[in-house]
Amino acid sequence: MKKIAFYDAKPYDKIWFDQLAAGRYDIRYLESKCNPDTAQLARGCEAVCAFVNDDLSKETIDRLYDAGVRVLAMRSAGYSNVDFKAAYGKINVVRVPAYSPYAVAEHAMALLLTLNRKVHKAYNRTRDFNFSLNGLIGTDLHGKTAGIIGTGKIGRVFINICRGFGMRILAFDPYPAKDADFEYVDLNTLLRESDVISLHCPLTDQTHHILDVNAFRQMKKEAFIINTSRGALIDSAALLAALNLKRIGGAGLDVYEEEADFFFEDYSGEIIRDDVLSLLTSRPNVIITSHQAFLTEEALHNIADVTLKNLDAYFAGEDLENEICYHCDSGKVAGGCRKNRKERCFQPPSADRMLTDSARN
Ligand code: NAI
Repeated sequence: MKKIAFYDAKPYDKIWFDQLAAGRYDIRYLESKCNPDTAQLARGCEAVCAFVNDDLSKETIDRLYDAGVRVLAMRSAGYSNVDFKAAYGKINVVRVPAYSPYAVAEHAMALLLTLNRKVHKAYNRTRDFNFSLNGLIGTDLHGKTAGIIGTGKIGRVFINICRGFGMRILAFDPYPAKDADFEYVDLNTLLRESDVISLHCPLTDQTHHILDVNAFRQMKKEAFIINTSRGALIDSAALLAALNLKRIGGAGLDVYEEEADFFFEDYSGEIIRDDVLSLLTSRPNVIITSHQAFLTEEALHNIADVTLKNLDAYFAGEDLENEICYHCDSGKVAGGCRKNRKERCFQPPSADRMLTDSARN
């Protein structure tokens, strides 16, 4: 049975992976995150399964390769933590491009509703038998403008949810959807005119700090920022400054720039040595959840199902529908993307050997 080293394993990961992998894979669950120091733990496994806050830098990739790992199965849609250039030619990388856009979009709306209607404050008050309404005034979302940055799978579900609330939609995306039935505008117009700004684009060199000091300066004073995509889309220090200066209305964050040091773990008994995170957390108009937008029954099932199917395809020598390499991001591939020709991005030496062996048997 093929062995998988499963990093950063949590109890909720095991529910579906245990059920769906039974009899197919031997999973070595590891509590540690994947990084250069823990890469050795994968020795004896051909596959690694990793998540968004694992450190899949060149050093880690090289050590995983030396340990015998030939396929990296990301159990996530985002992959900004993987050094694809380092992996190219050594370790094939697959991911789960979509597992439930509804899970993430619905969480984005949960953050917006909580922030706007101050449900977090009301919850704490009524538990203390404080039934006062002072300071709990919100606004109607109906008739307000939602600015959506990134109109892919999640962005479009969020657009539909906002429409259900009677909101006007403005969108920005350098690759607009051809079948869009909403209005695209340039980024500055979106920043100036939106009452709610929700981020649904990937983290790339172009989108790093897409919301920076200049962006916050252009926004409405009441604007709510929602980020369920990646922390580094927002310059957190600039966000804190904008909140302090009352330049914006508030923020609902499921992700944070430096989240890898904290998210998914319990630090309730310790001093958090990240002043920006501490100050953001203390603000009454900031809601932070720890990268839980994906966390629904349906999404967890789909993540396990697609991850294992990706590995099945790898080990069967088939083409990898959900493979990604650095060429995919650069968009410049001599002769066109190999995936479009139903080929793998590359064949590592061991995969060639594996195929020859299986052909012989
Ligand atoms: P997608 O690939 O379907 O859509 C991304 C969209 O962003 C595309 O339309 C693309 O053209 C657009 N885009 C690319 N560069 C842009 C730019 N410079 N400015 C504006 N838009 C740009 O991705 P999907 O599935 O909608 O996911 C979006 C993001 O959500 C992921 O990249 C990931 O970071 C995040 N995510 C967060 C989760 C969570 O639990 N918090 C779970 C799943 C995804």
